[in-house]
Amino acid sequence: MNAATSAETAVAAYLQQHETKGLLRFITCGSVDDGKSTLIGRLLHDTKLLLDDQVSALEADSRRFGTQNGEIDFALLVDGLAAEREQGITIDVAYRFFGTERRKFIVADCPGHEQYTRNMATGASTADVAVVLVDARKGLLTQTRRHSYIVKLLGIDRVILAVNKMDLVDFDQAVFDAIAGQYRALAAHLGIAHVDCLPLSALQGDNMIARSQRTPWYAGPTLLELLETVPVDRHDTESAFRMPVQWVCRPNQNFRGFAGTVVSGAVASGDEIVVQPSGRRSHVARIVTADGDLEQATTGQAVTLTLTDEIDASRGDVIALASSPLEVADQFAAHVLWMGDERLLPGRPYLLKLGTRTIGASVTEIKHKVDVNTQEELAAKHLELNEVGLCNLHLDQPIPFESYADSRALGGFILIDRQSNATVAAGTLEFALRRAGNIHWQHLDIDKGERAAIKHQQPRCLWFTGLSGAGKSTIANLVEKKLLALGKHTYLLDGDNVRHGLNKDLGFTDEDRVENIRRVAEVAKLMTDAGLIVLVSFISPFRAERAMARALFEPGEFLEVYVDTPLADAERRDVKGLYAKARRGELANFTGIDSPYEVPEAPELRLGTQEADAATLADRVLAALGYHNAT
Ligand code: ADX
Repeated sequence: MNAATSAETAVAAYLQQHETKGLLRFITCGSVDDGKSTLIGRLLHDTKLLLDDQVSALEADSRRFGTQNGEIDFALLVDGLAAEREQGITIDVAYRFFGTERRKFIVADCPGHEQYTRNMATGASTADVAVVLVDARKGLLTQTRRHSYIVKLLGIDRVILAVNKMDLVDFDQAVFDAIAGQYRALAAHLGIAHVDCLPLSALQGDNMIARSQRTPWYAGPTLLELLETVPVDRHDTESAFRMPVQWVCRPNQNFRGFAGTVVSGAVASGDEIVVQPSGRRSHVARIVTADGDLEQATTGQAVTLTLTDEIDASRGDVIALASSPLEVADQFAAHVLWMGDERLLPGRPYLLKLGTRTIGASVTEIKHKVDVNTQEELAAKHLELNEVGLCNLHLDQPIPFESYADSRALGGFILIDRQSNATVAAGTLEFALRRAGNIHWQHLDIDKGERAAIKHQQPRCLWFTGLSGAGKSTIANLVEKKLLALGKHTYLLDGDNVRHGLNKDLGFTDEDRVENIRRVAEVAKLMTDAGLIVLVSFISPFRAERAMARALFEPGEFLEVYVDTPLADAERRDVKGLYAKARRGELANFTGIDSPYEVPEAPELRLGTQEADAATLADRVLAALGYHNAT
């Protein structure tokens, strides 16, 4: 039995054993030394229902058996950011399980350092309640504000403010009242609806399980009483039926079922459903499970549905009740919590994972970023690690969705870097943008094939990339001359020239270069559609944007031509004197000096300018196009 399965079994057993009681998921957050571990340790210890032992044993097992890199991925066992889980990233959040007569608990313990904001977000995405710890001697800190902001962003509406280390301020009511007052003001500002404040000493046990004699002025409940009694407002079971399709189960010709977990509402056999985004309708024939068919399936259940009609659905589609379908859109306003080490750049293509669907996406605009300490909205061109922004998001295709406020499962998403496959953001969909909704693709009678045929040529995009001064324009210019001599119809888009017109509003920051390439790639695509052979000569230093350009074209249409000149060579020639300027510090963000050039990994052509002269290299480009004997 591997570690994941054994851990899963233990938790399943735990949940079963406590099935009749309510479950509360909560998260603890605070700064590094606020006493979180002590608080959790004491809760676990004093409730004397430590399942933690079991969990440690499992941890040891999993180290021994060596799966999951020696770690048990507890995220596997709780709902969480399902997408992130499938993505298999290691999340540094420890989930602990304990229970009392009244309730069972899952607590997500997240590290308090700022660089662990991402872990905190992961924990918060599953929690009903947040316990925010504050050191009574220090009061509210930056971390308190940051964490409270994220807690609210990720849909937690109930905070328990634990003013800890009261023993170190002599259980002074005035200290407590001041901190509680400040926090209530912050919570009101953030829109957190329910706040309970309590004075604690986690270390000495005051107001943890039993009421403290040392806070006679405090008449409220202890921490455990609060945890046992706070209402858990989950509306999932009341809202309409939704089930993202995880996979299509087709063991033989006679059976086709759609497997997934019901994320909200309930469905019964005979119900009319709609598959989204396609909009096809049918009725539920059977609700199949390993333990036999069900009449009804409700939130949280994993089932396989069979339908009365042979309609198509695939992974990522959502099955909803026909009478209350989801909205479908491809443009959104969304909050993005950036977790990447590299910045978020508008225009750069990422993968978005929402529910069971993965789709291409980019941020078209950052409306503002939020200073999570002051909640101030600030202008931003990019987002750095741990920054939160309200962004316009564009997806490659429309998807069924709900706002995160209505459904964590169908409104929460992650962004994945296409190159490294790392999770770089968590986000929440706020609402669909209607702007492009009424624009339809106009069908035209003349197409690319006809435009090209009259020119007796195959449209192409030759994408020259390389350092400034590498010789891109020189070679591209020669290639165009040779093509013209062969009677071909061409156009050369040169970086310097396009920057005089269409792109004259752009400079050389990373953001501007992304936009520079996005625009020229779209123009090149239009020109190819016009039947031309287009030559693009831009530094285009980033792999992500070259990949984005490539993706706009049909297979075989796009040729990446890497003009390979060592930096020292380009710098020695320095035709425009720009390298010298950059070295003198008069020109910032210069490619190769203080701005990176990412070498192409698999270009169709590599032209080594040290190995041959420009004319020879130009001939190689023509040969690659299938045109020989050019003069
Ligand atoms: S790209 O990086 O955005 O693709 P592009 O090809 O449009 O660059 O423009 C590059 C040209 O702009 C260079 O050939 C050079 O003449 C000029 N230039 C001016 N400033 C810079 C800079 N900071 N980095 C690179 N090129 C610069």
